[in-house]
Amino acid sequence: MSKIVPVITIDGPSGVGKGTISQLLARHLGWHFLDSGALYRLTALAARRQGIALEDEALVAPLAASLAVEFVPTADGEAKVLLDNQEVSNDIRTAQAGVDASVVAAHPTVRAALLQRQRDFAQPPGLIADGRDMGTTVFPNAAHKFFLLASAEVRAKRRYKQLIEKGLDANLGSLVEEIEQRDERDRTRSASPLRPADDAVSIDTSDKGIDAVFAEVLANCTDVV
Ligand code: C5P
Repeated sequence: MSKIVPVITIDGPSGVGKGTISQLLARHLGWHFLDSGALYRLTALAARRQGIALEDEALVAPLAASLAVEFVPTADGEAKVLLDNQEVSNDIRTAQAGVDASVVAAHPTVRAALLQRQRDFAQPPGLIADGRDMGTTVFPNAAHKFFLLASAEVRAKRRYKQLIEKGLDANLGSLVEEIEQRDERDRTRSASPLRPADDAVSIDTSDKGIDAVFAEVLANCTDVV
């Protein structure tokens, strides 16, 4: 029987603050962190670099299965992301990379190819898993599950701020459009659509700061914190 490693899942649409809350929680608990969206972003980037059409499921799935990825922890807590030994941390964070990720993420065989890789992140002392289907598909037995929500406008504004702070190009109007388009694709796909797990705690973050959301998450995890 394999060891039971506690997992906390944080799911929700893009720009809802999942990444920030997940990283804070991982640091607070001293647990590992899985940024599952990065795996879909990396798959899309690898396809683009090899000239493979994102819609070509038969060619994209083997790429997902054989991704040579490394997450190197840095002092500021943000992991450096390497693809084929080359740093791509910024390349996978562009708005286009997010849209590309949602195209490859809709392919069932791509999701299947990334499933075990995601589960392998569950190592002692515990894992915080950030994504869309962490609580529903990847870690259905997680100790705690959260689903964060916020309006598309609020999320676009947050994403805009993040991109500008990173020195990347951003346009608020097109971010709202991209977020709505990405939400639609994520919610309506047949394989692991974006939805809260039945046993997830939903938190609307529209009018809440990071500290308030973090406190609410912690208050629901008193057995592990
Ligand atoms: O979270 P992030 O914005 O990096 O995710 C990029 C895209 O990857 C999402 O829009 C979604 O289509 C896909 N994704 C997914 N399942 C996950 C994480 C991300 O389908 N667990």
